[in-house]
Order: sequence, then C-alpha cells, then structure tokens
Amino acid sequence: MELAGTVAVITGGGGGIGAALGKRFAAEGAKAVVLVDVDGAAAVRAAAAIGPLARGVECDAAGSAAMAGLIDGVERREGPIDLFCANAGIARALDVTSDDAAWDEMWRVNVMSTVIATRHLLPRWLERGSGYLMVTASAAGLLTTLGDAGYSATKHAAVGLAEWIAITYGDRGIKVSCLCPQGVRTNMVFGPGTDGTIGAEQVRRLGVMEPDEVAAVVVAALREERFLILPHPDVARYFRAKAEDHDRWLSAMRRFQRQLQTPQ
Ligand SMILES: NC(=O)c1ccc[n+]([C@@H]2O[C@H](COP(=O)([O-])OP(=O)(O)OC[C@H]3O[C@@H](n4cnc5c(N)ncnc54)[C@H](O)[C@@H]3O)[C@@H](O)[C@H]2O)c1
Repeated sequence: MELAGTVAVITGGGGGIGAALGKRFAAEGAKAVVLVDVDGAAAVRAAAAIGPLARGVECDAAGSAAMAGLIDGVERREGPIDLFCANAGIARALDVTSDDAAWDEMWRVNVMSTVIATRHLLPRWLERGSGYLMVTASAAGLLTTLGDAGYSATKHAAVGLAEWIAITYGDRGIKVSCLCPQGVRTNMVFGPGTDGTIGAEQVRRLGVMEPDEVAAVVVAALREERFLILPHPDVARYFRAKAEDHDRWLSAMRRFQRQLQTPQ
C-alpha cells in the first residue's frame, strides 16, 4: 500500500502512536487523515498540528452506533476510507481479582473496538474489493505484560482477531497488518500514574522507541503489506524462544518479574 492519495482514519489519534501515525501519513501524501479519540480536544489539537488535510473528531472507538456514524461521515466528507488504524487502547494494571467492570472496559476498548470498526467497514470494503485494516496490538499480545492480566489477555485477543480477519477476508481484497511494539514513549508508559508500575518498568528496561520511529516502521511495513509489524526486533527473537520452549520462557519471565520487584 502506498499512502499517497489515501483516506486514513486512526483511533486513539489524540496522542502517542496514533498522532505520530497521522503526522507521518500526511507527510507521505495522504489525501485526508481523521484522528478519532475519546479526548476530543486532544484529537483536534493533534489534527491542527498536522494541517488542513487532518481532522480531529471526538468519538468512543468502542461505541458501535457512534463508530457507524463516524465511518459514514468520513466517507461522505473525506471520501472512501482506504486505511483504518484500530489503534485506541488502554492499560489498567488489572489482576484477576479486578472487578468485572474493569475487565469489561478493557475488552471493549482493546478488542471490541476493532470488531466494531471492521463490522461497519466490511460491507463497503467488500463491495469495493479493497480495504486495509491495521490493528495496534502489542508485544504483550505475543508475549506478556507483567502486572497487567487485562492488557495481556486482550492484546492476545487483538492479535488473534487480526489474524482471523486476514485469513477470512484476505482473498476478497481485505488487507490486515498487526502492529506489536514493545516500549514506546507515550502517556501509556510515561504518563501520570505509570511510575513504579511493573508493566511500565518492564518496557522501559527493554528499550523505548519514539512514536515517530514507530510510525516510520509502520509506513515501511504497510508498503510491503506485511502482517506482523515489529518495531523492536528483539520481540521476534523472544516470540521464537517462547514457541520453542514455553516452560523455559515462563521461568525466564518469572525471573525477570522477581528482578523488577527487587528494590534497586
Ligand atoms: N506505548 C507503548 O509502549 C505501547 C506498546 C505496545 C502497544 N501500544 C498500543 O498502542 C496504542 C496507542 O497507545 P499509546 O502508547 O499511543 O498510548 P496513549 O495513551 O498515548 O494513546 C492512546 C489514545 O487512545 C485514546 N483512547 C482510549 N480509549 C479510547 C476509546 N474508547 N476511543 C477512542 N480513543 C480512545 C486515548 O485518549 C489516547 O489518546 C494502544 O493500543 C496501546 O495499547 C502501546
């Protein structure tokens, strides 16, 4: 896929990786970039920083009716959506003891938002015989995140969902990529309340990339129409090691967790 001339929609576009994707897509010649975020002011600010081809919209990516309206509005205003980045996500340091409401929110944002967007896009894309979905999952969807059962479980589900869509609709012109970064310098890892959490400490120790660097890797991978996008090359190595010997990988993760829990 070449980004020049495309209409791209990015959820979670008010900051972090989503805003960086929008900026980079515009630099690559996108015709229009729509940044969608529950934080409407952040989406509008991020769009203004890109320029007139970008628009910021307040919308809950996990709301089916709202997203149906958003997709319809973009297609009427900006034109047919070529690329949809299901990038909105949350991390909440959930344990299995966390309550159902906290787990429900996690599933809604990290998994159902992709189901919902794809549900509303598919009829249009199948009719045109083309459409590109990029799901921002995480290295946690291939490996794990220490200290956040909800993030680990839902990001595994996000990877599985992206694979399923790629297999089921790939022969009908629907292309899918799945972005699985490790640590990226955004509010999720460096924002308020993240200091001292083991999940944030894990990714900070393993190496942090800038959102703009991730966006550059994404553009190169979209050009190749590659499914799995791994901005941190180590993730491929860890994933192979896990597949080769699951029990050894679990012991190594327990050892890493003990190290992070030991005061420095
Ligand atoms: N930062 C990292 O280290 C890292 C690593 C791997 C994957 N990710 C994933 O990257 C994606 C982007 O996260 P980020 O790191 O840029 O964090 P971020 O917190 O800076 O950005 C996430 C954005 O999503 C928005 N959002 C949250 N819920 C929403 C909803 N229901 N509808 C619309 N927007 C919503 C937030 O307001 C925020 O602007 C997430 O899916 C995250 O899980 C991040």
